[in-house]
Amino acid sequence: MLVCHCKRVHCRVIRDCARSGAEDADDVGRMCGAGTGCGGCKPLVEKLVEREQAAQPRSESIAPAA
Ligand code: FES
Repeated sequence: MLVCHCKRVHCRVIRDCARSGAEDADDVGRMCGAGTGCGGCKPLVEKLVEREQAAQPRSESIAPAA
């Protein structure tokens, strides 16, 4: 689904950003440009990041002890 119409960014790209370390919509904007146009998609970008973080806990939090 196309989330950011200004920058033509799909939800898949935003989820990839979240998996690569983006913690909020501003991080996603720096990584792929989503939300850096009119800003209208930023609430949805934020929601997608939150959903991805909830689905995929950070690797350091689940890494086995050495
Ligand atoms: S729709 Fe994403 S910045 Fe305008």
